[in-house]
Order: sequence, then structure tokens, then C-alpha cells
Amino acid sequence: MEIIHVSAECYPMAKAGGLGDVVGALPKYQNELGHVAKVVMPMYRTKFLYQNEWELVHEGGQALGGEWFKYSIIKEKTNKLGFDLYLVDINGKLDREKIYGYEDDTERFIAFQLAVCDWIGRWQHRPDVIHCHDHHTGLIPFMARHAYAFRYQLGNVPTVFTVHNGEYQGQFSWDKYYYLPAYDSWNWGLLDWNNAINPMASAIKCAWKVTTVSPSYMDELKHAANGLENLFEYEKGKSIGIINGIDTEVWNPQTDGFIVKNYDNEEVIPGKEKNKKELTAQFGLDPEKPLITFIGRLVGEKAADLLPDAIGQSIYQYQGKANFLILGSGDPEIEDQLDQMKHRFKGYFNAYIGYNEGLSHLLYAGSDFLLMPSRVEPCGLNQLYALRYGTVPVVRNIGGLKDTVVDYGDPGGFGIKMEQSSVGDIAYSVGRAIDLYANKHNLYDAMRGKMMTIDHSWDMSAKQYLQIYESLQPEQ
Ligand code: ADP
Ligand code: GLC
Repeated sequence: MEIIHVSAECYPMAKAGGLGDVVGALPKYQNELGHVAKVVMPMYRTKFLYQNEWELVHEGGQALGGEWFKYSIIKEKTNKLGFDLYLVDINGKLDREKIYGYEDDTERFIAFQLAVCDWIGRWQHRPDVIHCHDHHTGLIPFMARHAYAFRYQLGNVPTVFTVHNGEYQGQFSWDKYYYLPAYDSWNWGLLDWNNAINPMASAIKCAWKVTTVSPSYMDELKHAANGLENLFEYEKGKSIGIINGIDTEVWNPQTDGFIVKNYDNEEVIPGKEKNKKELTAQFGLDPEKPLITFIGRLVGEKAADLLPDAIGQSIYQYQGKANFLILGSGDPEIEDQLDQMKHRFKGYFNAYIGYNEGLSHLLYAGSDFLLMPSRVEPCGLNQLYALRYGTVPVVRNIGGLKDTVVDYGDPGGFGIKMEQSSVGDIAYSVGRAIDLYANKHNLYDAMRGKMMTIDHSWDMSAKQYLQIYESLQPEQ
């Protein structure tokens, strides 16, 4: 089968979070299974762009409102990624350093989607599936079926839409309807949700199949989906949750080039110790104490706003028996609070405010525990990386965390779970982590060796996606 993934992120070209990791890995595994999976994404001005060679494969133009824009499609030349990567260049729109966060994001991503449809529409053949990821690509199922059905014969091409994060829906006012390509106005309802054009809602209505990144999140969306609950309930017949995998080549403690000592599950204790020493030396922490870390976007969804109080309380409550380290960026208020805490809790707490891919690998390797008290977690990849690096995940029992972590109090367990995102729950779980580290050596060591061998590679989930594609037969 030929599958074209459309996404705003793809590692290593551009990544803001887990979406980039998924789109940088799933196609590779699909290709290994004998299919042809490609990725098309915007051409931002990132390091990867300048460090690699590209060839021009297509040039075209499209109207965005009254304005005509030119676009070009370039392809990565060496195919070292394990899939063909295509970038859409649109001058003045996509050519920025950051992925998101601009005032004209709506126009930027509509232009991107118009260019993608126009380009695919001009191929000699049609792909077997167009697989769209998150709201930046959410208008494509509508465009394919209702705007480009005849012009480009895209109406019969199956579309799959994956919800990586239902909180962000990309809605914009109907005032901007003229940015969209011409369509039969009877179909306006397929774009609308609560009197706005809502790309995520539109994709859920129009895609042939809807997936989310874990089965539990699929259930939760019917009750908490930032206003789309009824829609998820209504479309449940064509929806399914498939747990994400991880790229076991990129995330491999035996070969990882970002860490100071490589190790496998046989030498987990000395291996992790060396990496921990490096981290604690860099951040002025104590290598003898359990190191509890957090990696991620500093936003409410991740319950990052609770971290200052929860960490402060834990340091007092457990008399400084654990050390804490945070790697993250996001809400400026949380960033400020964490910055101030560096001085107040010197020697017990430190933080790196910013994005640092290499450092994240060292944290997965050198930490003893990884904290994820998320309020919402569609899948979560951090806990899967933690498992692979022998770091005990301390997680809220929700979404993908619920599906992938078993509390050590339960049979076969290897993690620590809390029921609520609250300061009290976090502090209590920290207490359990300290107890495990200090008093239950045998259990702790056995757990770490075992968790490293759990298979979270994409093998299984990539097959599940292929089964879905195969079930979608173009209408004659
Ligand atoms: P989300 O996509 O919601 O942010 P995930 O757990 O799916 O959460 O994926 C987060 C990804 O982003 C992981 O690869 C994690 O290591 C990475 N990440 C998040 N914040 C940072 C940061 N500040 N520096 C480096 N990597 C980060
Ligand atoms: C989103 C979710 C995260 C998930 C990632 C990849 O960013 O917040 O839980 O792991 O997408 O699917």
C-alpha cells in the first residue's frame, strides 16, 4: 500500500512534542512491513533543513482567499530516515524558525493543506490512504471529499485522521471561510462546530476512520474533549484507539549517543549510575539520593503548574531525601516559579528551562524516577522512553499512562500510579518512590531490569494501522 502521512511535525526535521516522534517513526515501521509510507510536512527553517540535501520534485500555485501563492515540494535525497520526506515550501508563510505560535497560523496551515491536496491531486496515480495527524491537517478529509472530489479525483481516496491531542482544535471564525477552496455550500455543516470552522471537528466528521493514540483516551474523549464530547460519542463507530510505539533505534540505551554510558538490562545499575553522576554533577545534585525528574511542556495539561508546590512540599515532608530536576518550557509563569526555586532549594532541586533533545536522553538514562502527573495524556511517550531506560515512571492513572504502566503494588507491576493530578497525590507518590529506592532494593532492581525488556516498539501498532487502511476500500 502507499500511505502518505500529512503532519505539522516529524522528527528529526521538526518536533515540538510527541507528534513529531510518532510521525518520524511510524512510517519507518510501515515501510519495514513492505509498504510505501511517505511523510509530507511544512518546510520550516530548522537545522535539519540546512544540514541535508534536497531535490525539487514539484512546483505549483494555489489561491488562499483572494491571494495567489506559489509553493514548491522538495524531497530529502538520501532516504536515510527510512521513509521519503517531502517538504512544502511556501514563502512568507511556512518559512519560519518555530513550528507554531504565530498570529497567522490559521492561514499558514490552510495554505499548507491546499498545497498538499493540489500536489497529490496532480500525481499520475492516487495513494491508497491519506493519513492526517492533528488539527493542522484536519481540513484535508473535507477538502478531499467535498472540494477536490472531481477536480482531483480525491473523493475516493480513503482518509484516516489521528487525534494526538483533542485539546487543540484549530478553530477559526467563519469570517475566514474564503480561505477554503470552493465547495458545495450544502456541506458547510461538515466544517462547523459551535458557529466556528473547527478543523478537528471537521476531520472527525469527514475522515473515513478516526484514531486516537491510546484506547483509554478514546473512552475519555467521549466525556472530556474540550467541547467535542458529543461528536466523539456520535462517531464512535468509526473510531479506535491504538497505542503509540517508540522508535527503538533512536531510543536505545545500548547505542544512544547522547548519554555518557551505554547499557542494557543486564547492567542497568552501573549503567544508570554513570549517567546519573553526570547529571547530578551538571546540576549540583546529590548522586546518593533518588533523582526524580520531569520532562515536558510546562502547561496545565501536564499538571506542570502543580510541580512547584508538590516539589516544595515533598522536599519539606521527606526532609530532602530526594532530588528533583526539571527539563521543560512553556507557560512563562511556571518557568519563573521554577527559576526561583533553583535558589530556594539549591542542592535539592534544579531546572533547565528550554528545549534540549540531547539532555532529555541523559535524563531518561540518569534518572531514577520520571514524574508525569498529567491532567490529560492521550498517549505519552515519556513513560515509554523511561521504561526503555530503566527509569521508574510515576504517573497519573489516565489516558495512555493508564494503558502502559502497572503500579508495583499490582501483580507484575513496575511503576507508581496516582489517581488524581493534585499536590497531595504527587507528594504521596514521591514518598512511595523514596521508600522503593531506600527500602525495597530487590524489588526496585528487579523492576528496572524487567521494564527495559517490555516491547513498546511500533511493530504491533504499525500492523494495527495497516489493518485499518486495508479495511477502507474506495467506493466504486
Ligand atoms: P506531548 O506530545 O504531549 O508533549 P509526549 O509524551 O507524547 O508529550 O512527547 C513529548 C516528547 O517531547 C518526548 O520526546 C519528550 O522527550 C520531548 N520533550 C518535551 N519537552 C522537552 C524538552 N524541554 N526538551 C527536550 N525534549 C522534550
Ligand atoms: C500528543 C499527546 C501525547 C502523545 C503525543 C503523540 O502531543 O499530548 O500524549 O503521546 O501526542 O501521539
